[in-house]
Amino acid sequence: MYSSSRPATVAEIIADRAGEEMALNDRFLNPQMGRILRTLGFDKSWRGGEGAHLIDADGNRYLDLFGGYGVFAIGRNHPAAVAAVQEVMAARTGNLPQLGVTLLSGVLAEQLLARAPGSVGAMVPANTGTEAVEAAIKIARAATGRPRILYAEHAFHGLTLGSLSINGNAEFRDGFGPLLADCTAVAFDDLDALERELQRGDVAAFVVEPVQGKGVNLPRADYLPRAQALCRQAGALLVCDEVQTGVGRTGRFLALEHWGLEPDMVCMAKALSGGLVPIGAVLVSRAAFERVFDGMERAVRHGSTFGGNDLAAAAALATLRVLDEEGLVAHAERMGELLLSLTQPLIERYEVVRDVRGLGLMWAIEFGPPSGRVGRALWEAIERRQAGLFSQLITVPLFHEHRILCQVAGHRMNTIKALPALVIEEQEIRRFAAALEQTIASAERYPSALARFGARTGLRAAGMRR
Ligand SMILES: Cc1ncc(COP(=O)(O)O)c(C=O)c1O
Repeated sequence: MYSSSRPATVAEIIADRAGEEMALNDRFLNPQMGRILRTLGFDKSWRGGEGAHLIDADGNRYLDLFGGYGVFAIGRNHPAAVAAVQEVMAARTGNLPQLGVTLLSGVLAEQLLARAPGSVGAMVPANTGTEAVEAAIKIARAATGRPRILYAEHAFHGLTLGSLSINGNAEFRDGFGPLLADCTAVAFDDLDALERELQRGDVAAFVVEPVQGKGVNLPRADYLPRAQALCRQAGALLVCDEVQTGVGRTGRFLALEHWGLEPDMVCMAKALSGGLVPIGAVLVSRAAFERVFDGMERAVRHGSTFGGNDLAAAAALATLRVLDEEGLVAHAERMGELLLSLTQPLIERYEVVRDVRGLGLMWAIEFGPPSGRVGRALWEAIERRQAGLFSQLITVPLFHEHRILCQVAGHRMNTIKALPALVIEEQEIRRFAAALEQTIASAERYPSALARFGARTGLRAAGMRR
Protein backbone atom coordinates (compact mmCIF):
# COMPACT_ATOMS: atom_id res chain seq x y z
CA MET A 1 0.00 0.00 0.00
CA TYR A 2 1.20 3.50 -0.83
CA SER A 3 2.53 5.52 2.04
CA SER A 4 3.58 9.13 1.65
CA SER A 5 6.69 8.47 3.75
CA ARG A 6 8.11 6.19 1.04
CA PRO A 7 8.36 7.16 -2.63
CA ALA A 8 6.16 4.70 -4.54
CA THR A 9 6.99 3.01 -7.80
CA VAL A 10 4.86 3.83 -10.83
CA ALA A 11 3.26 0.38 -10.64
CA GLU A 12 2.31 1.00 -7.02
CA ILE A 13 0.84 4.40 -7.81
CA ILE A 14 -1.23 2.96 -10.66
CA ALA A 15 -2.41 0.07 -8.47
CA ASP A 16 -3.10 1.98 -5.26
CA ARG A 17 -4.13 5.49 -6.11
CA ALA A 18 -6.39 5.13 -9.16
CA GLY A 19 -9.54 7.14 -8.54
CA GLU A 20 -7.72 10.11 -7.00
CA GLU A 21 -7.23 11.87 -10.39
CA MET A 22 -9.94 14.50 -9.97
CA ALA A 23 -8.95 15.36 -6.39
CA LEU A 24 -5.28 15.68 -7.37
CA ASN A 25 -6.20 17.79 -10.38
CA ASP A 26 -8.33 20.14 -8.29
CA ARG A 27 -5.64 20.53 -5.68
CA PHE A 28 -2.49 20.76 -7.81
CA LEU A 29 -3.32 21.19 -11.48
CA ASN A 30 -6.28 22.92 -13.10
CA PRO A 31 -9.44 23.17 -10.98
CA GLN A 32 -11.28 25.06 -13.75
CA MET A 33 -10.82 21.99 -15.95
CA GLY A 34 -12.18 19.96 -13.04
CA ARG A 35 -15.32 22.14 -13.02
CA ILE A 36 -15.85 21.64 -16.75
CA LEU A 37 -15.46 17.87 -16.44
CA ARG A 38 -17.91 17.62 -13.52
CA THR A 39 -20.45 19.89 -15.22
CA LEU A 40 -20.44 17.75 -18.34
CA GLY A 41 -20.15 14.50 -16.40
CA PHE A 42 -16.86 13.71 -18.14
CA ASP A 43 -15.02 13.24 -14.82
CA LYS A 44 -14.09 9.63 -15.44
CA SER A 45 -11.20 7.72 -14.06
CA TRP A 46 -9.60 6.45 -17.26
CA ARG A 47 -7.79 3.19 -16.65
CA GLY A 48 -6.61 2.25 -20.10
CA GLY A 49 -6.50 2.88 -23.79
CA GLU A 50 -6.40 0.53 -26.73
CA GLY A 51 -6.67 1.28 -30.43
CA ALA A 52 -9.54 3.70 -31.04
CA HIS A 53 -10.87 3.36 -27.48
CA LEU A 54 -10.46 4.67 -23.95
CA ILE A 55 -11.38 2.32 -21.10
CA ASP A 56 -12.95 3.47 -17.81
CA ALA A 57 -12.64 2.05 -14.30
CA ASP A 58 -15.52 -0.38 -14.89
CA GLY A 59 -13.94 -1.70 -18.05
CA ASN A 60 -16.35 0.15 -20.38
CA ARG A 61 -14.86 1.06 -23.76
CA TYR A 62 -15.45 4.56 -25.13
CA LEU A 63 -14.90 5.38 -28.79
CA ASP A 64 -12.34 8.20 -28.58
CA LEU A 65 -12.91 10.77 -31.33
CA PHE A 66 -10.80 13.35 -29.50
CA GLY A 67 -7.67 11.26 -30.05
CA GLY A 68 -5.67 13.20 -27.44
CA TYR A 69 -5.94 16.27 -29.77
CA GLY A 70 -5.04 13.99 -32.66
CA VAL A 71 -1.93 12.20 -31.44
CA PHE A 72 -3.27 8.64 -31.56
CA ALA A 73 -3.27 8.07 -35.32
CA ILE A 74 -2.01 4.48 -34.99
CA GLY A 75 -4.28 3.94 -31.99
CA ARG A 76 -3.62 4.11 -28.27
CA ASN A 77 -0.78 1.98 -26.98
CA HIS A 78 -0.02 0.35 -30.29
CA PRO A 79 2.11 -2.72 -29.46
CA ALA A 80 4.74 -1.83 -32.08
CA ALA A 81 5.24 1.68 -30.67
CA VAL A 82 5.32 0.37 -27.09
CA ALA A 83 7.87 -2.28 -28.14
CA ALA A 84 10.05 0.35 -29.87
CA VAL A 85 10.22 2.40 -26.68
CA GLN A 86 11.02 -0.72 -24.67
CA GLU A 87 13.73 -1.70 -27.20
CA VAL A 88 15.46 1.66 -26.80
CA MET A 89 15.37 1.32 -23.03
CA ALA A 90 16.74 -2.23 -23.25
CA ALA A 91 19.51 -1.15 -25.65
CA ARG A 92 20.75 1.50 -23.18
CA THR A 93 21.60 3.71 -26.18
CA GLY A 94 24.08 6.56 -26.09
CA ASN A 95 21.19 9.03 -26.18
CA LEU A 96 21.70 12.81 -26.43
CA PRO A 97 25.50 13.00 -26.74
CA GLN A 98 24.92 16.65 -27.74
CA LEU A 99 28.48 17.08 -29.05
CA GLY A 100 27.78 14.04 -31.16
CA VAL A 101 25.06 12.60 -33.38
CA THR A 102 22.75 9.60 -33.05
CA LEU A 103 21.55 6.83 -35.33
CA LEU A 104 17.80 6.75 -34.66
CA SER A 105 17.31 10.47 -35.26
CA GLY A 106 19.28 10.22 -38.51
CA VAL A 107 17.21 7.27 -39.74
CA LEU A 108 14.01 9.11 -38.79
CA ALA A 109 15.11 12.15 -40.82
CA GLU A 110 15.96 9.87 -43.76
CA GLN A 111 12.54 8.19 -43.59
CA LEU A 112 10.50 11.36 -43.15
CA LEU A 113 12.28 13.12 -46.02
CA ALA A 114 11.72 10.07 -48.23
CA ARG A 115 7.96 10.51 -47.64
CA ALA A 116 7.99 14.30 -48.08
CA PRO A 117 8.06 16.37 -51.29
CA GLY A 118 11.42 16.91 -52.99
CA SER A 119 11.40 20.58 -51.98
CA VAL A 120 12.55 19.70 -48.44
CA GLY A 121 15.88 18.04 -47.72
CA ALA A 122 16.83 18.42 -44.04
CA MET A 123 15.15 17.89 -40.67
CA VAL A 124 15.32 20.14 -37.63
CA PRO A 125 14.14 18.10 -34.60
CA ALA A 126 11.83 19.51 -31.92
CA ASN A 127 9.67 18.21 -29.07
CA THR A 128 6.20 19.60 -29.75
CA GLY A 129 4.14 21.19 -32.49
CA THR A 130 4.55 24.70 -31.21
CA GLU A 131 8.31 24.20 -31.00
CA ALA A 132 8.35 23.10 -34.64
CA VAL A 133 6.43 26.25 -35.60
CA GLU A 134 8.77 28.47 -33.55
CA ALA A 135 11.70 26.91 -35.42
CA ALA A 136 10.00 27.56 -38.76
CA ILE A 137 9.46 31.24 -37.90
CA LYS A 138 13.11 31.65 -36.90
CA ILE A 139 14.43 29.79 -39.95
CA ALA A 140 12.21 31.84 -42.28
CA ARG A 141 13.47 35.13 -40.84
CA ALA A 142 17.12 34.09 -40.83
CA ALA A 143 16.99 32.52 -44.31
CA THR A 144 15.29 35.49 -45.99
CA GLY A 145 16.59 38.37 -43.89
CA ARG A 146 12.98 39.62 -43.80
CA PRO A 147 10.82 40.27 -40.73
CA ARG A 148 7.20 39.64 -41.57
CA ILE A 149 5.24 36.40 -41.08
CA LEU A 150 1.80 36.01 -42.64
CA TYR A 151 -0.78 33.66 -41.15
CA ALA A 152 -4.42 32.84 -41.76
CA GLU A 153 -7.39 34.04 -39.74
CA HIS A 154 -8.59 31.26 -37.39
CA ALA A 155 -5.18 29.57 -37.64
CA PHE A 156 -3.89 27.51 -34.73
CA HIS A 157 -0.14 26.89 -34.56
CA GLY A 158 0.46 26.42 -30.83
CA LEU A 159 0.47 28.49 -27.69
CA THR A 160 4.04 29.61 -27.00
CA LEU A 161 4.64 33.29 -27.72
CA GLY A 162 5.96 33.01 -31.29
CA SER A 163 3.26 30.58 -32.39
CA LEU A 164 0.67 32.60 -30.49
CA SER A 165 1.69 35.65 -32.50
CA ILE A 166 0.46 33.84 -35.61
CA ASN A 167 -2.66 32.44 -33.95
CA GLY A 168 -5.80 33.69 -35.69
CA ASN A 169 -8.09 33.51 -32.65
CA ALA A 170 -8.43 36.39 -30.20
CA GLU A 171 -9.48 34.13 -27.32
CA PHE A 172 -6.02 32.58 -27.25
CA ARG A 173 -4.07 35.82 -27.76
CA ASP A 174 -5.93 38.16 -25.42
CA GLY A 175 -4.02 39.10 -22.31
CA PHE A 176 -0.66 37.71 -23.39
CA GLY A 177 0.65 40.66 -25.39
CA PRO A 178 2.75 42.26 -26.59
CA LEU A 179 3.26 39.43 -29.05
CA LEU A 180 5.88 39.21 -31.82
CA ALA A 181 5.99 42.25 -34.06
CA ASP A 182 5.54 41.96 -37.83
CA CYS A 183 2.97 39.17 -37.89
CA THR A 184 -0.02 39.81 -40.16
CA ALA A 185 -3.28 37.89 -40.52
CA VAL A 186 -4.86 37.30 -43.93
CA ALA A 187 -8.25 35.68 -44.50
CA PHE A 188 -7.98 31.93 -45.12
CA ASP A 189 -8.79 31.10 -48.76
CA ASP A 190 -8.35 34.74 -49.87
CA LEU A 191 -5.61 34.97 -52.51
CA ASP A 192 -6.05 38.71 -53.09
CA ALA A 193 -5.39 39.45 -49.43
CA LEU A 194 -2.30 37.25 -49.52
CA GLU A 195 -1.01 38.86 -52.68
CA ARG A 196 -1.49 42.38 -51.27
CA GLU A 197 0.63 41.57 -48.23
CA LEU A 198 3.30 39.72 -50.23
CA GLN A 199 3.69 42.67 -52.59
CA ARG A 200 5.21 44.75 -49.82
CA GLY A 201 8.38 42.68 -50.30
CA ASP A 202 9.13 42.21 -46.58
CA VAL A 203 7.49 38.81 -45.99
CA ALA A 204 9.71 36.00 -44.73
CA ALA A 205 7.00 33.32 -44.78
CA PHE A 206 3.36 32.46 -45.05
CA VAL A 207 2.54 29.80 -42.44
CA VAL A 208 -0.62 27.84 -43.17
CA GLU A 209 -2.45 24.66 -42.11
CA PRO A 210 -3.57 22.81 -45.26
CA VAL A 211 -6.85 22.10 -43.44
CA GLN A 212 -7.47 24.38 -40.48
CA GLY A 213 -7.82 22.41 -37.27
CA LYS A 214 -10.02 24.95 -35.58
CA GLY A 215 -13.39 24.42 -37.25
CA VAL A 216 -11.98 21.94 -39.80
CA ASN A 217 -11.91 24.53 -42.59
CA LEU A 218 -11.03 23.14 -46.01
CA PRO A 219 -9.43 25.37 -48.65
CA ARG A 220 -10.95 25.71 -52.10
CA ALA A 221 -9.13 23.56 -54.68
CA ASP A 222 -6.76 26.18 -56.10
CA TYR A 223 -5.99 28.13 -52.92
CA LEU A 224 -2.86 26.40 -51.70
CA PRO A 225 -1.16 25.87 -55.12
CA ARG A 226 -1.77 29.51 -56.01
CA ALA A 227 -0.65 30.68 -52.57
CA GLN A 228 2.57 28.73 -53.14
CA ALA A 229 3.09 30.39 -56.52
CA LEU A 230 2.47 33.84 -55.02
CA CYS A 231 4.99 33.17 -52.24
CA ARG A 232 7.61 32.01 -54.78
CA GLN A 233 7.10 35.13 -56.90
CA ALA A 234 7.50 37.37 -53.85
CA GLY A 235 10.59 35.56 -52.50
CA ALA A 236 8.68 34.47 -49.38
CA LEU A 237 8.81 30.94 -47.97
CA LEU A 238 5.75 28.70 -47.76
CA VAL A 239 5.46 26.81 -44.47
CA CYS A 240 2.86 24.03 -44.25
CA ASP A 241 1.88 23.34 -40.66
CA GLU A 242 1.06 19.62 -40.80
CA VAL A 243 1.15 19.16 -37.05
CA GLN A 244 -2.48 18.04 -37.09
CA THR A 245 -3.00 17.06 -40.74
CA GLY A 246 0.20 15.01 -41.12
CA VAL A 247 0.91 11.31 -40.52
CA GLY A 248 -2.00 10.01 -42.58
CA ARG A 249 -4.78 12.01 -40.94
CA THR A 250 -6.32 13.30 -44.19
CA GLY A 251 -5.86 10.09 -46.21
CA ARG A 252 -2.40 11.09 -47.46
CA PHE A 253 0.83 10.84 -45.46
CA LEU A 254 0.98 14.65 -45.65
CA ALA A 255 -2.14 16.65 -46.49
CA LEU A 256 -0.08 18.77 -48.91
CA GLU A 257 -0.09 15.76 -51.28
CA HIS A 258 -3.75 16.50 -52.08
CA TRP A 259 -2.57 19.61 -53.91
CA GLY A 260 0.94 18.50 -54.96
CA LEU A 261 2.53 21.29 -52.92
CA GLU A 262 6.30 21.75 -52.72
CA PRO A 263 6.68 23.99 -49.64
CA ASP A 264 9.92 25.33 -48.18
CA MET A 265 9.10 23.92 -44.75
CA VAL A 266 6.76 21.32 -43.25
CA CYS A 267 6.05 21.29 -39.51
CA MET A 268 5.20 17.92 -37.96
CA ALA A 269 4.48 16.67 -34.42
CA LYS A 270 1.48 15.09 -32.62
CA ALA A 271 0.84 11.63 -34.13
CA LEU A 272 4.40 11.21 -35.39
CA SER A 273 5.49 9.26 -32.31
CA GLY A 274 2.32 7.21 -31.89
CA GLY A 275 1.09 9.35 -29.00
CA LEU A 276 3.68 7.87 -26.65
CA VAL A 277 6.50 10.42 -26.52
CA PRO A 278 6.49 14.18 -27.22
CA ILE A 279 7.92 14.92 -30.65
CA GLY A 280 8.23 17.65 -33.25
CA ALA A 281 10.16 18.18 -36.45
CA VAL A 282 10.53 20.75 -39.22
CA LEU A 283 11.40 19.50 -42.67
CA VAL A 284 13.31 22.31 -44.36
CA SER A 285 14.53 23.00 -47.90
CA ARG A 286 18.29 22.61 -48.24
CA ALA A 287 18.53 26.21 -49.45
CA ALA A 288 16.81 27.66 -46.36
CA PHE A 289 18.67 25.27 -44.04
CA GLU A 290 22.06 26.22 -45.45
CA ARG A 291 21.34 29.93 -45.18
CA VAL A 292 20.64 29.51 -41.45
CA PHE A 293 23.31 26.97 -40.49
CA ASP A 294 26.00 28.47 -42.71
CA GLY A 295 29.24 27.81 -40.85
CA MET A 296 30.68 25.82 -37.97
CA GLU A 297 30.19 28.70 -35.55
CA ARG A 298 26.50 28.72 -36.51
CA ALA A 299 25.93 24.93 -36.21
CA VAL A 300 23.98 25.19 -32.95
CA ARG A 301 22.15 28.48 -33.52
CA HIS A 302 18.84 26.71 -33.14
CA GLY A 303 17.97 23.50 -31.33
CA SER A 304 16.66 22.12 -28.05
CA THR A 305 18.07 19.77 -25.45
CA PHE A 306 15.67 16.89 -26.04
CA GLY A 307 15.17 17.46 -29.79
CA GLY A 308 15.88 14.22 -31.68
CA ASN A 309 16.05 12.05 -28.57
CA ASP A 310 16.11 8.27 -29.00
CA LEU A 311 12.74 7.55 -27.36
CA ALA A 312 10.87 9.92 -29.66
CA ALA A 313 12.79 8.81 -32.73
CA ALA A 314 12.18 5.11 -31.96
CA ALA A 315 8.45 5.66 -31.39
CA ALA A 316 8.30 7.66 -34.64
CA LEU A 317 10.09 4.97 -36.63
CA ALA A 318 7.65 2.39 -35.26
CA THR A 319 4.74 4.69 -36.18
CA LEU A 320 5.93 4.98 -39.79
CA ARG A 321 6.32 1.20 -39.98
CA VAL A 322 2.81 0.63 -38.60
CA LEU A 323 1.33 3.12 -41.09
CA ASP A 324 2.90 1.16 -43.94
CA GLU A 325 2.34 -2.38 -42.66
CA GLU A 326 -1.30 -1.80 -41.72
CA GLY A 327 -2.06 0.35 -44.78
CA LEU A 328 -3.45 3.03 -42.45
CA VAL A 329 -3.21 6.00 -44.81
CA ALA A 330 -5.44 4.34 -47.42
CA HIS A 331 -7.70 3.04 -44.61
CA ALA A 332 -8.07 6.61 -43.28
CA GLU A 333 -9.11 7.77 -46.73
CA ARG A 334 -11.74 5.00 -47.02
CA MET A 335 -13.09 5.47 -43.49
CA GLY A 336 -13.23 9.25 -44.02
CA GLU A 337 -15.26 8.79 -47.20
CA LEU A 338 -17.60 6.40 -45.40
CA LEU A 339 -18.06 8.84 -42.51
CA LEU A 340 -18.88 11.68 -44.90
CA SER A 341 -21.28 9.53 -46.92
CA LEU A 342 -23.13 8.54 -43.73
CA THR A 343 -23.24 12.02 -42.19
CA GLN A 344 -23.62 14.46 -45.09
CA PRO A 345 -27.29 13.42 -45.59
CA LEU A 346 -27.95 14.86 -42.09
CA ILE A 347 -27.81 18.34 -43.70
CA GLU A 348 -31.01 17.53 -45.59
CA ARG A 349 -32.64 15.67 -42.73
CA TYR A 350 -32.18 18.09 -39.82
CA GLU A 351 -32.68 21.83 -39.80
CA VAL A 352 -30.00 22.39 -37.18
CA VAL A 353 -27.29 20.73 -39.30
CA ARG A 354 -25.65 23.42 -41.40
CA ASP A 355 -22.66 21.60 -42.81
CA VAL A 356 -20.74 18.35 -42.64
CA ARG A 357 -17.19 18.41 -43.98
CA GLY A 358 -13.93 16.58 -43.75
CA LEU A 359 -10.86 15.18 -45.41
CA GLY A 360 -9.79 11.66 -44.47
CA LEU A 361 -10.36 11.24 -40.76
CA MET A 362 -10.48 14.94 -39.95
CA TRP A 363 -14.23 15.54 -39.81
CA ALA A 364 -16.68 18.16 -38.51
CA ILE A 365 -20.39 18.87 -38.27
CA GLU A 366 -21.63 22.43 -37.91
CA PHE A 367 -24.96 23.40 -36.34
CA GLY A 368 -27.12 26.49 -36.78
CA PRO A 369 -30.48 27.77 -35.51
CA PRO A 370 -33.67 26.01 -36.64
CA SER A 371 -36.12 28.01 -38.73
CA GLY A 372 -39.27 27.52 -36.58
CA ARG A 373 -40.15 30.52 -34.36
CA VAL A 374 -40.10 28.63 -31.04
CA GLY A 375 -37.00 26.64 -31.84
CA ARG A 376 -35.13 29.72 -33.03
CA ALA A 377 -36.11 31.74 -29.95
CA LEU A 378 -34.85 28.97 -27.66
CA TRP A 379 -31.66 28.61 -29.66
CA GLU A 380 -31.02 32.34 -29.39
CA ALA A 381 -31.73 32.38 -25.67
CA ILE A 382 -29.20 29.63 -25.12
CA GLU A 383 -26.60 31.13 -27.40
CA ARG A 384 -26.94 34.48 -25.63
CA ARG A 385 -26.07 32.72 -22.43
CA GLN A 386 -23.13 30.86 -23.91
CA ALA A 387 -22.22 30.85 -27.61
CA GLY A 388 -21.57 27.33 -28.83
CA LEU A 389 -23.75 25.69 -26.18
CA PHE A 390 -25.89 23.72 -28.63
CA SER A 391 -22.88 21.53 -29.45
CA GLN A 392 -22.79 20.36 -25.85
CA LEU A 393 -26.34 19.13 -26.23
CA ILE A 394 -24.86 16.68 -28.71
CA THR A 395 -21.49 15.82 -27.13
CA VAL A 396 -22.93 15.12 -23.66
CA PRO A 397 -25.51 12.47 -24.70
CA LEU A 398 -22.98 10.99 -27.14
CA PHE A 399 -20.72 10.45 -24.16
CA HIS A 400 -23.26 9.24 -21.60
CA GLU A 401 -25.67 7.31 -23.77
CA HIS A 402 -23.38 6.03 -26.51
CA ARG A 403 -19.89 6.01 -24.94
CA ILE A 404 -18.45 8.24 -27.62
CA LEU A 405 -16.00 10.99 -26.68
CA CYS A 406 -15.88 13.92 -29.12
CA GLN A 407 -14.99 17.57 -29.02
CA VAL A 408 -16.19 21.05 -29.84
CA ALA A 409 -14.05 22.37 -32.70
CA GLY A 410 -13.22 25.69 -31.05
CA HIS A 411 -14.37 28.39 -28.65
CA ARG A 412 -17.88 29.69 -29.15
CA MET A 413 -18.40 27.43 -32.14
CA ASN A 414 -21.34 25.20 -32.81
CA THR A 415 -19.11 22.75 -34.60
CA ILE A 416 -18.18 19.30 -33.36
CA LYS A 417 -15.03 17.70 -34.59
CA ALA A 418 -13.67 14.16 -34.77
CA LEU A 419 -10.06 12.99 -35.04
CA PRO A 420 -10.41 9.23 -34.56
CA ALA A 421 -7.51 6.83 -34.58
CA LEU A 422 -6.78 5.83 -38.16
CA VAL A 423 -7.20 2.20 -37.07
CA ILE A 424 -10.92 2.79 -36.45
CA GLU A 425 -13.06 0.01 -37.88
CA GLU A 426 -15.97 0.41 -40.24
CA GLN A 427 -18.44 -0.81 -37.63
CA GLU A 428 -17.38 1.96 -35.22
CA ILE A 429 -17.76 4.60 -37.95
CA ARG A 430 -21.29 3.29 -38.54
CA ARG A 431 -22.02 3.24 -34.80
CA PHE A 432 -20.89 6.86 -34.48
CA ALA A 433 -22.98 8.02 -37.45
CA ALA A 434 -26.09 6.27 -36.07
CA ALA A 435 -25.55 7.62 -32.53
CA LEU A 436 -24.99 11.12 -33.91
CA GLU A 437 -28.22 11.05 -35.90
CA GLN A 438 -30.21 9.77 -32.93
CA THR A 439 -28.76 12.49 -30.70
CA ILE A 440 -29.43 15.27 -33.21
CA ALA A 441 -32.98 14.02 -33.69
CA SER A 442 -33.68 14.19 -29.94
CA ALA A 443 -32.04 17.60 -29.61
CA GLU A 444 -34.14 18.95 -32.45
CA ARG A 445 -37.34 17.23 -31.31
CA TYR A 446 -37.16 18.52 -27.76
CA PRO A 447 -35.81 22.07 -27.90
CA SER A 448 -36.92 22.49 -24.28
CA ALA A 449 -34.11 20.10 -23.35
CA LEU A 450 -31.77 22.71 -24.76
CA ALA A 451 -33.21 25.34 -22.46
CA ARG A 452 -33.01 23.10 -19.39
CA PHE A 453 -29.49 22.10 -20.24
CA GLY A 454 -28.35 25.69 -20.75
CA ALA A 455 -29.96 26.89 -17.55
CA ARG A 456 -28.36 24.07 -15.57
CA THR A 457 -24.86 24.56 -16.80
CA GLY A 458 -23.71 27.96 -18.04
CA LEU A 459 -20.85 26.11 -19.62
CA ARG A 460 -17.64 27.19 -21.12
CA ALA A 461 -16.46 25.19 -24.09
CA ALA A 462 -12.93 25.73 -22.86
CA GLY A 463 -10.49 22.87 -22.82
CA MET A 464 -11.83 21.69 -26.16
CA ARG A 465 -9.83 24.03 -28.17
CA ARG A 466 -8.41 22.29 -31.20
C1 LIG B 1 -1.86 22.82 -36.70
C2 LIG B 1 -1.22 22.84 -35.34
N1 LIG B 1 -0.01 23.40 -35.19
C3 LIG B 1 0.61 23.42 -34.00
C4 LIG B 1 0.01 22.90 -32.88
C5 LIG B 1 0.72 22.95 -31.55
O1 LIG B 1 1.14 21.69 -31.20
P1 LIG B 1 1.56 21.39 -29.67
O2 LIG B 1 0.29 21.39 -28.88
O3 LIG B 1 2.23 20.04 -29.74
O4 LIG B 1 2.49 22.47 -29.27
C6 LIG B 1 -1.25 22.31 -32.98
C7 LIG B 1 -1.91 21.75 -31.79
O5 LIG B 1 -3.07 21.49 -31.73
C8 LIG B 1 -1.88 22.27 -34.23
O6 LIG B 1 -3.09 21.72 -34.40
